[in-house]
Amino acid sequence: MENRPSEIPNIVQKLFTFEEYKDDTMHSLNVSIPEVLDPQYGMYVWPCAVVLAQYAWTRREELLHKRVLELGAGVSLPGVVAAKCGAQVILSDNAELPLCLDNCRRTCEVNDLPNVVVVGITWGEVSPELLLLPSLDIILGSDVFYEPEDFESVLVTISYLLRRNPKAQIWTTYQERSADWSIEALLHKWNLNCNNIPLEKFNSKDLTGFKLPGSHSVQMMIITCKGSAESK
Ligand SMILES: C[S@@+](CC[C@H](N)C(=O)[O-])C[C@H]1O[C@@H](n2cnc3c(N)ncnc32)[C@H](O)[C@@H]1O
Repeated sequence: MENRPSEIPNIVQKLFTFEEYKDDTMHSLNVSIPEVLDPQYGMYVWPCAVVLAQYAWTRREELLHKRVLELGAGVSLPGVVAAKCGAQVILSDNAELPLCLDNCRRTCEVNDLPNVVVVGITWGEVSPELLLLPSLDIILGSDVFYEPEDFESVLVTISYLLRRNPKAQIWTTYQERSADWSIEALLHKWNLNCNNIPLEKFNSKDLTGFKLPGSHSVQMMIITCKGSAESK
């Protein structure tokens, strides 16, 4: 990861490189993320986003031509990696936070992705934007479970999307900020299944060593509808 100054004041370009040596060839992808020097949550890349983007990179062959939605995208690193790997991507953030939606658009411009769509989707709310979404294969959510009072709203939106797209999977990363927080009971209430993916499985163990205040650990999970073929 590398920081570069930008021509726009208060914006710093962060460069992320994803690499994998496979079939005697080095495969790599560079993504540039404009971060805004502002204390709002959706203005910079959270550790969860780096881990989810790495997961998407390691599953890039399956992402080709898939329809992908990112929830609470902020500066949108995982969604942009999916788009660069050939997925048809829709980025979303809180409909009431236009600056976050601007970030999604700015990241697409910087990475030359004119076909990525940006929409306002507020968790737990039914809106024309939510109802008009096309069918989806994968829904990305990086660090969307960060405020316990929003956990159920996020799961309501996830549950709605999975019922409309029963074969879809939610790829999500969660940063453990308190041992008292858990989404387990809510997953059960909304009839959702959750599988943990160990970070070692996709070379992400070292990516979590961010120098952030406080200790943290990131988990990667796949959420599906209970009883669907994808949950087995
Ligand atoms: C902790 S940040 C994570 C941002 C980004 N996914 C990442 O990991 O770098 C949480 C994101 O959720 C968005 N968000 C917060 N409340 C929301 C809501 N009620 N509906 C939709 N998005 C929301 C924020 O604007 C922010 O972009």
